[in-house]
Amino acid sequence: MSDRSETPTAPILLADYRPPAWTVEQVELTFDLAIDRAEVDARLALRRKVDEPIRLNGEGLELIELKVDGRVLSEGEYILGDGMLEFTATGDTCVVETRVALRPAENTAFEGLYLSGSRETGFLLTQCEAEGFRHITFFPDRPDVLSRYTVTLRADKARFPVLLAGGNPDGSGDLPEGRHWARFVDPHPKPSYLFALVAGRLERISRDHVTADGRRVALHIWAEPDAIDRCDYAMDALVRSMRWDEDAYGRNYDLDVFHVVATHDFNMGAMENKGLNIFNAKYLLADPDSSTDDEYRHVEAVVAHEYFHNWSGNRVTCRDWFQLSLKEGLTVFREQSFSADMNSAPLKRIEDVALLRRAQFPEDAGPLSHPVRPSQYSEINNFYTATVYEKGAELVRMLAGRLGPEGFRQGMDLYFARHDGQAVTIEDFLRALGEANGIDLMPYLAWYEQSGTPRISADGRYDAAQRRYRLTLRQRTPAVDGQAARRPLPVPVRLSLFDPSGQATPLRLEGEAAPDGVERTVVLHTAEQVFTFEDIAQAPVPSLLRGFSAPVILEYDYAPDELALLLRHDADGFNRWEAGQQLAGLAFDDARDGRQQGAALDAWTTVLAALFHDPAVDDALLAELLTPPGEIELVERQPERDPQRIRDARLRMLGALAARIGVPALRQRYDALSAMARGDLDAASQARRQLKRRVLDLIALASPDDGRALARTQYERAPAMTDRLAALSTLALADADAAAEAIAHFRRRYDGNALALDKWFAMQAQLPGDSAFDRIRSLEADPAFTLKNPNRVQALIGTFARANPTGFHRTDGAAYRWLADRLLAIDALNPQVAARVATAFNGWKRLEPVRREAAHAVIAALSSRRDLSRDLTDILGRVAL
Ligand code: PHE
Ligand code: ZN
Repeated sequence: MSDRSETPTAPILLADYRPPAWTVEQVELTFDLAIDRAEVDARLALRRKVDEPIRLNGEGLELIELKVDGRVLSEGEYILGDGMLEFTATGDTCVVETRVALRPAENTAFEGLYLSGSRETGFLLTQCEAEGFRHITFFPDRPDVLSRYTVTLRADKARFPVLLAGGNPDGSGDLPEGRHWARFVDPHPKPSYLFALVAGRLERISRDHVTADGRRVALHIWAEPDAIDRCDYAMDALVRSMRWDEDAYGRNYDLDVFHVVATHDFNMGAMENKGLNIFNAKYLLADPDSSTDDEYRHVEAVVAHEYFHNWSGNRVTCRDWFQLSLKEGLTVFREQSFSADMNSAPLKRIEDVALLRRAQFPEDAGPLSHPVRPSQYSEINNFYTATVYEKGAELVRMLAGRLGPEGFRQGMDLYFARHDGQAVTIEDFLRALGEANGIDLMPYLAWYEQSGTPRISADGRYDAAQRRYRLTLRQRTPAVDGQAARRPLPVPVRLSLFDPSGQATPLRLEGEAAPDGVERTVVLHTAEQVFTFEDIAQAPVPSLLRGFSAPVILEYDYAPDELALLLRHDADGFNRWEAGQQLAGLAFDDARDGRQQGAALDAWTTVLAALFHDPAVDDALLAELLTPPGEIELVERQPERDPQRIRDARLRMLGALAARIGVPALRQRYDALSAMARGDLDAASQARRQLKRRVLDLIALASPDDGRALARTQYERAPAMTDRLAALSTLALADADAAAEAIAHFRRRYDGNALALDKWFAMQAQLPGDSAFDRIRSLEADPAFTLKNPNRVQALIGTFARANPTGFHRTDGAAYRWLADRLLAIDALNPQVAARVATAFNGWKRLEPVRREAAHAVIAALSSRRDLSRDLTDILGRVAL
């Protein structure tokens, strides 16, 4: 477990980076595994780089023996303390041997070696990123030390029939007293954070894959016996991912085996350990009866993400943890491209931008704001953030857009070729991409170093006499508390101009001989720049930032009818949706300020009602268009945040939309969609379910009795989870009492199915209003609730605190006090999970005064405690600022 904060640790600075004094060329590990006590023998072959003592990280290890070059060191010959083992060595190479003991069953933090599940049937596994390896053995636990690993596992054969570690298998056999052993050799040098082992009673499904360069790879997915029949979808996704990386990036897998293991006890989503990926079961298991369509897509995306890390992360890794986005931003981008190819590209883009706005923009606007490459941290686990992942992916996307598909591929080829087997930096990445194309990409470094979401304001002037359109773009990035002034960034703005009939106009920039298509990308390099387009016959409506070409907030003073025009005619699927979002934002303002006849509200409902009947709009896009920004995003439209006001106004605008379309039309559509319902997973079926859900929600608003009746029938007849959960949620939102029976039914039906029960908890944790808090407290008393399981904690406590604004932000502050109390209990078990849940306090400063005061009191009291983990102390300390 991480150390407690009685002794505050100084932050780690990027500016202080120094290469390791000693590297480890070869690692031999031998594990004697058991639930209560495991022993680890390590033999490290070190090589000196700098004339300094040997320093090895180690936390919570019981040191049994230490040998240097074959000689046992006595106590006076080494220093052990503060997470470090230090001693001197004379030569330039040196062999260090340690023996330590670990206590896996007591490890509730799920970092290092731990037990998943019960003592009787559970299995042992490891989690090392970022700094978990030091909980397993003494080692220079930093990503720029790359070593070759040989790992031998020994354990009781009946209790641990399956023994796995990363690398290729290198023998196995029986031992006396019912024990057995297995050895693994990984030929690829790797950092310690990619080490993994698994031991227990697991079953597998297997498939062979022959890579494009001709290697036969045995793929194995492992799960506990009751879950093994839910792994087939993940296996298909894995094969698709391998094929795609071969085609799109020319990257082949590089070992003879690839293992994937599912566990219910995991702090994060999944982990890319070399040759032995470990997954939170939530992102691996899927079956129609317990998984929603969204979850199927997540499984495909996370399987791909972890597989892609084999090149972007493992073969080429990070020099230090400041460079985390080098692997994460790049790998998210690679996954996004893959998912776009496997499914609908515009829908994927909409989904990703919606996520960026929901998760990253608020993060970047509050006290936890940090650059994609931070310059300091006190606990690295707290930097696995939406900024590092999602904004980081947007930065790679901008670079890819700048270079074009072929240039980007050449750049990536050079990056992989040049840095294979190395631990590198963001600068190395920019240099490789740039040099392959003869372009200087270093100006983009500013995007990595500067936090905050840039605001781009656009202003268009049409000159009828000159037939000219002048577009002025300006950028500014508001400084978040106490940070330095911002430099201008290179901002690519992809755009088209539409004439009043909805036609895109050929674009000729001033000084050019001829137009160059109807879509262009202009790059804003300075604080302000003017772009002049010639031969423009009529005042145009600009479609700006198409495809979301840069992660910024666009400010352009659109009139409602201009947005309505884009919503009808924009050929860019993303910008079409975006026009709808912008218009919905204005409609929200009308609803909030009581303008029931407002121009924006009228335009929004009118155009959506028309699109609702337009056969050219497909089901999936229509479903997205019928979804206005959520309560959390709409916070941005309020100077001071009152969650109840936001929710009420949003419901009023949706009510107006439902009334405009009309219950009969909604009903007709709902019936048509229901008649086609099966559990199939193809895109058209998923789109129908998605649309049906939106339509049902609108019916429930306009005609609650109809809504309830339809939802109840849908719940009873649903062929699969998507329809079942949607119906349950509609029912519960419409009338929690009327839903009680169905809620109890779901609870019984899925008793023992952890992932389904998580959805049951999460659905109820989102039910809004005054009664929410009491509901949460009675759910805590459910025998299936436990603070020990991260998924369960996130499902109930995380969802309530982050996704239930009206329920959590009570004016009496009771929910804040309750959360503080739970954070203490969680922190004692699992600091990483406590820290992540605590980020729910991020936005407290922008609450209206009554709630703000209540939140402040709680945060101040909690953050002044001295018995918290470093993880939680770090988050609270920054949030409280
Ligand atoms: N590296 C993992 C991923 O993004 C995330 C992770 C971080 C998992 C830390 C566990 C611990 O794929
Ligand atoms: Zn990752």
